[in-house]
Amino acid sequence: MKVLVTGGAGFIGSAVARTLASRGDQVLAVDIGPPSRRLDAGLAASAKLEFATGDLTEWAQIAQLIKAFSPDAIVHCAAIVGVLNSVSAPFATMRVNVEGSLNLIEAMRLFDIRRMVHISTEEIYGPFDSDMINEDHPARPVKPYGISKYAVEQLARDYVRTYGLDIQHVRTCWVYGPGLPRPRVPKILIDAIIEKRSLHMNGGGDFRVDHIYVDDCVDGILKVLDHQDHRHDAYNIATGIAPSIGEIVATLKTLEPSADISIAEGDYEFTKGVSPVKKGALDISRARQELGYAPRFTLKAGLGAYLDWRRSNPV
Ligand SMILES: NC(=O)c1ccc[n+]([C@@H]2O[C@H](COP(=O)([O-])OP(=O)(O)OC[C@H]3O[C@@H](n4cnc5c(N)ncnc54)[C@H](O)[C@@H]3O)[C@@H](O)[C@H]2O)c1
Repeated sequence: MKVLVTGGAGFIGSAVARTLASRGDQVLAVDIGPPSRRLDAGLAASAKLEFATGDLTEWAQIAQLIKAFSPDAIVHCAAIVGVLNSVSAPFATMRVNVEGSLNLIEAMRLFDIRRMVHISTEEIYGPFDSDMINEDHPARPVKPYGISKYAVEQLARDYVRTYGLDIQHVRTCWVYGPGLPRPRVPKILIDAIIEKRSLHMNGGGDFRVDHIYVDDCVDGILKVLDHQDHRHDAYNIATGIAPSIGEIVATLKTLEPSADISIAEGDYEFTKGVSPVKKGALDISRARQELGYAPRFTLKAGLGAYLDWRRSNPV
């Protein structure tokens, strides 16, 4: 397959691009920023992987790239990511996530590219009604990030109905592992361990959210990409388990007993005054049954793999 990966220099996009190239697909990774170290490693390892600079919000650039490469499918990972980033930059979030995605979908229509897998998020659900939710949970996003991602889902559905495109949405959760760019759990804890710093968080220990190791997330994305004749257009790709942040701290301490980290009980705040909504686990039965998706990394195995990577990548 020829696959165009947007956000190909990013955390998930670079992992998707490298994995596709290593199994023999021809991949064009597109990003507004330069190739990251992890994408560079993939570019050096495989002639099947190429990189092009491109800004999703620049229609002419995106149309030209898609026309010239003519992919069989697109994996759309580029975005302004995260609640906090979207709160600090709401206009840019809408422009990149909504208008940028629309540019991509319009180019698909014009140049007859039928398949896209869009990386969506659990934020589209808004506050969870229960501790575990499936894809039928109402979409009530509350922050610009989740609102922008749900807008993309709905725009895509319109294009699917009207023009016969084939677009699926991967609703993933808190992805972690090598290269995680955002200063949140578990990165901040692992950074403190590697740098031999003390980190004592004064709240948030009770907050529960599904955490998925990046390799499992990539595996789920590829399972959605490879499947034909989907019965649904949205799949939770997660683990089905929502550890508390207190449990993550405790697991890290069993992996590295000298770690000087702790967390107090209570609710979590991204930053002062910005808290996540109630979350929990994402039910992965649909992906399990229809796609054969099964996460391989337990929390302990994923945190251990991330720690090992950080030990050999100290900066
Ligand atoms: N990491 C997570 O925990 C998580 C959770 C749920 C969903 N997602 C989704 O997964 C996708 C990838 O996230 P990530 O964690 O790899 O984030 P990331 O920030 O590492 O990657 C996003 C990439 O998009 C690129 N980008 C931003 N604006 C662009 C533009 N105008 N044109 C072209 N490229 C642009 C960035 O340069 C970056 O490399 C996103 O769509 C995100 O919403 C991520």
